[in-house]
Amino acid sequence: MKDKPLVIVTRRLPEGIEARLSELFGARLNLDDTPMDATALKAAVKSATVLVPTVTDKVGTEIIEAAGPQLKLIANFGVGFNHIDVKTARVRGIAVTNTPGVLTDATADITMTLLLMVTRRAVEGSDVLRSGKFGGWNPTWMMGVGLRGRTLGIVGMGRIGEAVAQRSRAFGMNIHYHNRKRAAAEVERELGATYWPDLDRMIPEMDVVSINCPSTPETYHLMSAERIGRMKRSAYLINSARGDIVDEAALAEALDRGAIAGAGLDVFEKEPKVEPKLLAQKNAVLLPHLGSSTIEARTGMGEKVIANILAFSGGQRPPDLVTS
Ligand code: 8YV
Repeated sequence: MKDKPLVIVTRRLPEGIEARLSELFGARLNLDDTPMDATALKAAVKSATVLVPTVTDKVGTEIIEAAGPQLKLIANFGVGFNHIDVKTARVRGIAVTNTPGVLTDATADITMTLLLMVTRRAVEGSDVLRSGKFGGWNPTWMMGVGLRGRTLGIVGMGRIGEAVAQRSRAFGMNIHYHNRKRAAAEVERELGATYWPDLDRMIPEMDVVSINCPSTPETYHLMSAERIGRMKRSAYLINSARGDIVDEAALAEALDRGAIAGAGLDVFEKEPKVEPKLLAQKNAVLLPHLGSSTIEARTGMGEKVIANILAFSGGQRPPDLVTS
């Protein structure tokens, strides 16, 4: 790749990042920010050397199979890459990279935001106030629950899971986790974390279950009706990972029946659509996928995209290759 590679960016990115992309490469930006449909994506992969998609682009088998031989790299803007058919990319010799690490703090912070909002009934309280129904302070009204001494079960102890554990420790919670692989002894010691190899045995013991694992075929509806049914009636479910890890209809039903105390969700299976039954639940705190939406995280993600393209076009192994 001696000439400047044509880099097609599917969405608007932070200003400084777009400027650098234009300076360094033959970047084609999406100035009106309309998400690309399948036709637009197919046209893009027929001319780009590098495609920079986001979570709103479904880069599935059909799109990758439509790619011309000039497409060499899909440099995803985001850590999760379940919207990209990595297997087909690998077969076609197209490298795929992501942006790990730089959005860990932001995503862990949004997890804590959801946890605090749902346990302290922040949305319910705010709605009462805004609708003019706040009748003044009341000693027995709108009590939530505190976090100190409660058990937190983290599903997926990667970077984000660990950052959630650190924050929750500071709130006095007792940390438990389920992961395919057990964490290193020093990590467990530092977090005071208890490992549960069997998710089904961990869930009934937890006051809060936090989903922090990637979306893969194995984690699809991991929180099934059956597993949600194992949660304590007083427990809360938090999801800041991917919507399809939770069976949303089963969750809405459990919330409706009072089978669990509440849920905090930043992600949904069919974004931007949200299961209507969830919207109807007062004890569900719902945010519009804000996990990485800090200026620091989004800039860091853009910088990672640039570093991956630079390494790749310079003939080196990109730092965040997921197709190795
Ligand atoms: C990103 C995310 O903003 O990085 C991820 O995996 O979930 C988000 O917070 C989004 O994916 C952008 O592509």
